[in-house]
Amino acid sequence: MSSDPWFQQLFADRIGGINYGKSNAIYKFEKIKRAKRAALAAHPETELLDFGIGENDSMAPASVRKAMEKAINDPANRGYADNGIQAYKDAAARFMKREYGVELDPACEIVHCIGSKPALALLPGMLINPGDVCLMTAPGYPVAGTWTKYFGGEVYNMLLEEKNDYYPDFDAIPEDIVRRAKLMVLNYPNSPTGQLATVEFFKKVIDFARKNQIVVVNDAAHIVLTYGQKPLSFLSIDGAKEVGLETHTMSKGFDMIGWRLGFVCGNPKLVQAYADMKDNTDSGQFKAIQEAAIVGMDDPSIPQNTRIKYERRLKKMVTTLRDLGFDARMPGGTYFLMVKAPRAIEGGQQFENAEAVSQWLIREKMICTVPYDEGQMLRFSATYDVKDGEPGEDGLMQRLKERLKGIKFVF
Ligand SMILES: Cc1ncc(COP(=O)(O)O)c(C=O)c1O
Repeated sequence: MSSDPWFQQLFADRIGGINYGKSNAIYKFEKIKRAKRAALAAHPETELLDFGIGENDSMAPASVRKAMEKAINDPANRGYADNGIQAYKDAAARFMKREYGVELDPACEIVHCIGSKPALALLPGMLINPGDVCLMTAPGYPVAGTWTKYFGGEVYNMLLEEKNDYYPDFDAIPEDIVRRAKLMVLNYPNSPTGQLATVEFFKKVIDFARKNQIVVVNDAAHIVLTYGQKPLSFLSIDGAKEVGLETHTMSKGFDMIGWRLGFVCGNPKLVQAYADMKDNTDSGQFKAIQEAAIVGMDDPSIPQNTRIKYERRLKKMVTTLRDLGFDARMPGGTYFLMVKAPRAIEGGQQFENAEAVSQWLIREKMICTVPYDEGQMLRFSATYDVKDGEPGEDGLMQRLKERLKGIKFVF
């Protein structure tokens, strides 16, 4: 007997139609969660070394929390924020100028968003009709692609491969796809590869977009986490504002990941179209949060300290993993370190793919990573939770080394 509810056949095709909720596929993060649970149950006395966390480990800075405390008690902040308060847009304009040298008119070239995730969900809606194509860097953050498909569009994955330095190869995109493409969603600094954009690459993007009449959105969620060089905004390149937008977030650089705030900026007509989509979707982020974020954006030491902390942690991880035989290199950006997954252990275990390695590391060594079977990579995140600053970080690296001591990985 079927236990389907009476409305099972009413589900829309975009979420699986009549088959909605029936898939037995277990997704990557669920598999990791299950393996972690089983390992902790089998070895309750052993510490799980968790490099699988994809979120900042710190609370928002004290000055931001203090500003929030005040703003939350201001009766003027009680109502709908709609498309945002002007003071937040002004602060975002100051931030973009100070950090990236980008001039923006806060009256018409910036609109807030409730984190960049909902912005990336909404943006395809302003361009994609059924049959239109969205070009996306892959692997990557899938939200704009999911919504492109919800709107009846198609996603073309522009693969980021080592042989192309993790940049898309525009010449490899079939002509028919280019012809039907209306939107290109890039993500630089790139997650998970850690690659940074260059001025030359962004110029190439602008030329391609102009020639083929494609709107560009650069998802700059990780831009504050740029190492070894000045962070590069797409909008700092001549002509970028003519072809597109950039999405920014308070999540990563300001440790405000749960506060849900960011901004969309760039071409005024596209910003307006986004604002119209947004106005018909939400009523804006709580004004008190926007006010607190202004204090964060106006303090250059906050993004700088976040950058310094994760750069330090990543460097320690690179040294430790290299000592263990991994080909670890400092990423250009993000708080993630990607390394090639081993194929085997000398004289023992063979691994079918990156996921098998990740499962083995959790089960046998109580070490959590995230596998990427594209490219056979493992992701170690520097957002691990340690209590006592640098000594805690060094201690964790030492424990990681001890856990894997004596194991010879084959790559
Ligand atoms: C590449 C990328 N883009 C966008 C987001 C969404 O960030 P938020 O919605 O917190 O601004 C994330 C979060 O993990 C991300 O990694």
